[in-house]
Amino acid sequence: MTKPSSLWQRPTARWRLGLPIGALLMVVIGVLATVGFNGVMQATSSNEFCSSCHGPAAFAAEEWPQHTHFTSASGVKVQCADCHVSKQFLPKMWRKVQGMKEVYHYAVGTYDSREKFELHRLDMAKKVWAEMKATDSATCRSCHNYQRMDFTKQSAKAQLWHPSIAEKGLTCIDCHKYLAHDRVATELQ
Ligand code: HEC
Ligand code: HEC
Ligand code: HEC
Ligand code: HEC
Repeated sequence: MTKPSSLWQRPTARWRLGLPIGALLMVVIGVLATVGFNGVMQATSSNEFCSSCHGPAAFAAEEWPQHTHFTSASGVKVQCADCHVSKQFLPKMWRKVQGMKEVYHYAVGTYDSREKFELHRLDMAKKVWAEMKATDSATCRSCHNYQRMDFTKQSAKAQLWHPSIAEKGLTCIDCHKYLAHDRVATELQ
């Protein structure tokens, strides 16, 4: 049996060489893991990825081209993830974890027909509204900086409302719904 003390022997010459090689390997693995991780993060934030489920089968993406955040005078490209995935690390990770639940519902076919989708649509929309209310519409603000708004250049209606939103405790999503999707039919019933 090995004596406990023999486990603590000084490293042999071979080991001394092994240490820097091991350290180098760790760095290489670390770099590869980061590149892979970012690749996965990017791939799972693309329109193509979202639309692979929310396309014609789940009916969110198909409505989008009719709205201002798809085609506009300026042609700025707004992606699903720009509105739905936070740019901050932890909330972003949380969204990816929630995505697992979406994969499950997709796999079991919870919303595989238009009827099923429409039935649950209000619940889904409410979740998005609640999330945006809670974050003070953070994803909207990543493009629309309130401090940089020149109210005098906005429409009369906007000028009437915008300057006082903070003191009224209102946030973008309180007034601006249905910017990328059709109105939720069930809300009207
Ligand atoms: C694997 C298929 C799949 C992919 C990929 C997918 N989703 Fe979903 N998504 C679903 C399903 C199914 C639901 C309904 C989940 C539920 O009812 O809990 C859903 C629900 C939603 C909702 C409703 C609110 C909520 O939190 O439930 C939003 C918003 C959403 N997805 C946005 C996106 C975006 C943005 C992407 C791309 C970054 C994406 N989804 C990628 C299947 C998918
Ligand atoms: C990736 C950047 C980006 C994000 C994210 C974004 N927008 Fe926009 N939005 C734009 C651009 C660019 C325009 C101007 C389109 C044009 O040229 O008319 C615009 C136009 C608008 C308009 C005026 C046109 C209309 O549809 O009534 C409103 C209101 C608006 N955005 C609100 C919002 C809200 C609320 C959110 C969050 C749910 C949001 N935006 C998220 C870039 C963005
Ligand atoms: C109290 C309601 C209210 C809130 C809160 C609000 N808006 Fe608006 N917003 C309006 C109204 C009303 C208009 C004018 C719509 C029209 O002219 O048809 C408008 C217009 C706009 C426009 C178009 C401006 C123009 O005239 O070209 C943009 C962009 C916009 N809002 C972004 C935002 C963003 C971003 C937030 C959050 C920081 C926000 N709004 C919060 C009511 C609101
Ligand atoms: C301009 C911001 C914006 C963009 C871009 C956007 N969404 Fe949304 N999304 C919202 C908001 C806000 C809601 C809550 C309902 C509403 O107001 O339309 C929502 C609701 C949803 C829902 C819940 C069901 C419903 O129709 O309300 C799904 C699913 C969804 N989005 C997926 C997507 C996918 C997939 C894309 C890209 C093809 C996308 N969204 C692009 C802002 C956006």
